[in-house]
Amino acid sequence: MSTSTYWGPDFTALQDTDPEVAGYVLRELDRQRSGLQLIASENFASPAVLAAQGSVLTNKYAEGYPGRRYYGGCEEAIDPLEQLAIDRAKALFGADHANVQPHSGASANIAAYYATVRPGEKVLAMSLPHGGHLTHGMPVNFSGKWFDVVSYGVRQDTEVIDMDQVRELALQHRPKLIIAGWSAYPRQLDFEAFRAIADEVEAALLCDAAHFIGLVAGGVHPSPVPYCDLITFTTHKTLRGPRGAIVLANERWAKAIDKAVFPGTQGGPLEHVIAAKAVALKEAMDPAFKVYAQRILDDVRALADGLADRGYRITSGGTDTHLLLADVTGKGLTGAEAEARCDAAGIVLNKNAIPFDTNPPAIASGIRAGASCVATQGMGPDELSYVAGLVDRALTGSDDDRSAVRGEVESLVARFPAYPDPSDA
Ligand SMILES: Cc1ncc(COP(=O)(O)O)c(C=O)c1O
Repeated sequence: MSTSTYWGPDFTALQDTDPEVAGYVLRELDRQRSGLQLIASENFASPAVLAAQGSVLTNKYAEGYPGRRYYGGCEEAIDPLEQLAIDRAKALFGADHANVQPHSGASANIAAYYATVRPGEKVLAMSLPHGGHLTHGMPVNFSGKWFDVVSYGVRQDTEVIDMDQVRELALQHRPKLIIAGWSAYPRQLDFEAFRAIADEVEAALLCDAAHFIGLVAGGVHPSPVPYCDLITFTTHKTLRGPRGAIVLANERWAKAIDKAVFPGTQGGPLEHVIAAKAVALKEAMDPAFKVYAQRILDDVRALADGLADRGYRITSGGTDTHLLLADVTGKGLTGAEAEARCDAAGIVLNKNAIPFDTNPPAIASGIRAGASCVATQGMGPDELSYVAGLVDRALTGSDDDRSAVRGEVESLVARFPAYPDPSDA
């Protein structure tokens, strides 16, 4: 056990050295506290996560892996720390192997491509307008530029992924890699069906669980681990950790993914972020995280029901994840207008394409809202039913109505403060 006195971030040091930056940090803290944060990809990391991330571990270079580093000075703390994060990730998700070094979800996906496909080879992934991610083959992204990506989507009548189409496309194109995963899709994936298709065409199967991994950790969403070769996920969304990512792998892909992360696509790992990932994984192992994950689901369903009752079409007819997509065109709005109106009322969410959208992505016809942040604040379904009314009034009311909603948002979040001020205790 170390006898060192703790030396950690001191906000007054930042204020003294750089009041401008300190000012922006405080402004952002105020913004996070005073609005209703419904962005589905965000969350409030715990003070313990923030403390680990803001530590002296930021100073250490550690290229390589525990026990196999290209730098000295790693044995004492860095190696066992990174191993702890690896062991926790493996234990939490029941995985054969974990790599905790990816700097972000996009970096993790780059490594997954690097491990499984060569430039020009075929990949089958969900189309972005139907809910996929930029790294799943968008022409403006490395994935679309360097690989021959074929996209699957949802059925027009159900807005649910058409597994028959996935199979037909796989048989037709024989991809080397199939990606199951999404950024904006409210339903659970059929991992078993994806596995069967991947086996039929001898493709590697990657699950990009960036969004829903916290629900898996909390036991309220099926796990992709038994079915997929690789699972990439961000640690900062539903998992509520620091910004970054982890890749899980089965035995077969373990060596390849380690080589792909380092030296394939990254340099030195961010050990301060890895420490924060370890903390988040520990928090996710606590029984309280199961309660949290269930609360997310209860909350988003209450929000979806409340919006549906007010005449919004919820795509696919509902949600069984932490997010919903609502079509706002029935109210004479575009997604961009809806986002701006909510923003004016202190409700932060994002415009989003809905399946078969006729508007361009920068305008879009829908909004995406998630309950990860509000559930962290302790809000329950009653509050989220009330929030549905606030969203509706923000969207359909006048500027005066939006000012009134802003006041109600402030009262609500004051009852469920994000990062409560210790002086208020
Ligand atoms: C499915 C999916 N994959 C990857 C990413 C990329 O994560 P990051 O922003 O950390 O690069 C995201 C981010 O939203 C995502 O939704």
